Amino acid sequence: MSDMSNTGDKGGGSPVRRRLVVTGSHSGIGRATAALAEALGWSVIGLDLAADGRRVGGELIAFPCDLTDEHSVREAFEKVDEEWGGHAPHALVHCAGIYRFKAATGTTAADWDAVVNLNARGSLLVAAAAARRMIDAGEGGSVTLLSSIAAVRGDAGEPSAAYSASKGAVVSLARQLAVEWGPDGIRCNVVAPGVIDTPMTTVSGDPEAFAQVLRRIPAGRLGTADEVARVCLFLASQDAAYVNGTVIAVDGGQSAS
Ligand SMILES: NC(=O)c1ccc[n+]([C@@H]2O[C@H](COP(=O)([O-])OP(=O)(O)OC[C@H]3O[C@@H](n4cnc5c(N)ncnc54)[C@H](O)[C@@H]3O)[C@@H](O)[C@H]2O)c1
Repeated sequence: MSDMSNTGDKGGGSPVRRRLVVTGSHSGIGRATAALAEALGWSVIGLDLAADGRRVGGELIAFPCDLTDEHSVREAFEKVDEEWGGHAPHALVHCAGIYRFKAATGTTAADWDAVVNLNARGSLLVAAAAARRMIDAGEGGSVTLLSSIAAVRGDAGEPSAAYSASKGAVVSLARQLAVEWGPDGIRCNVVAPGVIDTPMTTVSGDPEAFAQVLRRIPAGRLGTADEVARVCLFLASQDAAYVNGTVIAVDGGQSAS
């Protein structure tokens, strides 16, 4: 039976709502993940650069956080601790990320740093902040990081060397975390989306570029944020209890072509 609804009963008492931190909760895949998780019964806290600390519809509260900044991550997790009365998250889905469309020859050190600092370093900072709490609580947990099929496929049409490298780093990082934290019952997995219809995706504005992108996708269409969110929440849930250190592509078959 599916456990994606994610309430748990710890020994005959009333069901415990499982706690999920979602980064990038103000847009795209993060927003869809937070909304779906709430609908499935999770207690959700969002973290996003664009958040203002207020509740955004339903019960979702999102705290402002710059995930490139160690102090900001620490402060945001102190607010998470306060909101949940010191209880650790059961799961983290880290969706915040940035993309810059730039040829390798035009990529500056500043471009590289901006992209890698969020996509790669931010992944470590937020995953470690969540895992420290999970380890202290001693109940295990799940960390899901967002990579991209750009980690394994070059793209002549829309190159972004910094982005591709940063998303490759996410896969390597997740494998390391899976092994390091596995003995504490913490699973770390990666979702690698293809081209998803979110504000990050710039191709839909140019009809010719859009047609070219569609030709490369066996499904013949872009994915939706909700389709990615469902896989993130599968990995966050106990349905994926024996899934650790793996990468799941959600790309309509693009990486197989
Ligand atoms: N959309 C796609 O086609 C696609 C494809 C492959 C991978 N991905 C990955 O999926 C994830 C989600 O992408 P999306 O399409 O939902 O993007 P999006 O642009 O819609 O949302 C990204 C969110 O990250 C937040 N953010 C940006 N910088 C931040 C920072 N320094 N600290 C905290 N939050 C910050 C933004 O405010 C925004 O809410 C990203 O990691 C992205 O690289 C997306």
